[in-house]
Amino acid sequence: MSLKNVYEPYFKMGTSVSGRNMASLKAKRELKKHYSSITAENEMKPMFMLDWKANIENPEKYNTQPALNFDKARVYLDFAKESKIALRGHTLVWHNQTPVWFFKEDYRTDEDAPFADRDTMLARMESFIKGVLNFVQTEYPGVIYAWDVVNEAIEENEEDGWRKKSLWYKTVGEDFVLWAFRFARKYAAEGVSLFYNDYNTFDPFKREKICDLILKPLLKEKLLDGMGMQSHLILNDSDMREYEKSLHCFGSMGVEIQITELDIHATDPSENGMKQLAVMYDELFRILVKAKKEGLANITNVTFWGMKDDESWLTGFRKERSYPMLFGDNYELKEAYHMVVKVPDTL
Ligand code: GLA
Repeated sequence: MSLKNVYEPYFKMGTSVSGRNMASLKAKRELKKHYSSITAENEMKPMFMLDWKANIENPEKYNTQPALNFDKARVYLDFAKESKIALRGHTLVWHNQTPVWFFKEDYRTDEDAPFADRDTMLARMESFIKGVLNFVQTEYPGVIYAWDVVNEAIEENEEDGWRKKSLWYKTVGEDFVLWAFRFARKYAAEGVSLFYNDYNTFDPFKREKICDLILKPLLKEKLLDGMGMQSHLILNDSDMREYEKSLHCFGSMGVEIQITELDIHATDPSENGMKQLAVMYDELFRILVKAKKEGLANITNVTFWGMKDDESWLTGFRKERSYPMLFGDNYELKEAYHMVVKVPDTL
């Protein structure tokens, strides 16, 4: 029995993977056993695919056509190809993990350097997206089945919803999202799904803004294939009714839905604590399978953000040890795993 086999009738099962996982035989065995999709936790983000040295040393040459470097990305692409596991591309246009110099005139690294103008940034964006997609589609055809084209453009603390601090928003303006998807559509191979991805998508304000500012305009131009709900949840805190509402709301827009970064922050490793975690995972997977079965959301993938407890980013982020996954530190199957694999049978 494995996650991917149990869920095969419904959706792909995935996990994020790190460089450490790629260097571990044990991790690779687990990956092949349980998952039909992987996402590189970091190395396919802009900061890793931009060639820092070349761009900074030779800004005239690369001003509107940034130099790229795929050495780090290849590790994931090679593994996915060899093991016939599908790969989610994550991510092309994001305010985070994209170097500040990328947004500056002449790729300058000094703090006072002015930002590049809109036309230059749109040219850099197009060239970056084109370069990345052409590379993966030429050297690894068919390996990447979905891209998070834009990550996290909406913010709950902004009155109108736009994340004003994003350097994409600052340099290009609010149509940066449309342009990113226009370029992605132009260069993406047929059959590759284009996703908008965001966190706290269960928040009612975010749900509304994502629908109005992002999904509707993209759908009008036929640029969007899917909505990514990151789903970083908190045990006994995240509101599952609102979560379900968002799932159905995005689902009703006729796009694919992928749960792209699932984890449930949980700090109590005792039997009781882990039982509570299992109950919340059980509730979540019931919501997902039901929505899929009843045609309320076309969920095509559920990806965990981390393979096992001790590798989760949450311990660092929340500054307290977290036990959020289905697998313990030594890949032992937790109560949450046992509950999750039982869900399809009971519905
Ligand atoms: C966001 C990003 C992910 C990852 C997590 C934290 O959700 O989309 O790529 O960086 O934050 O690990």
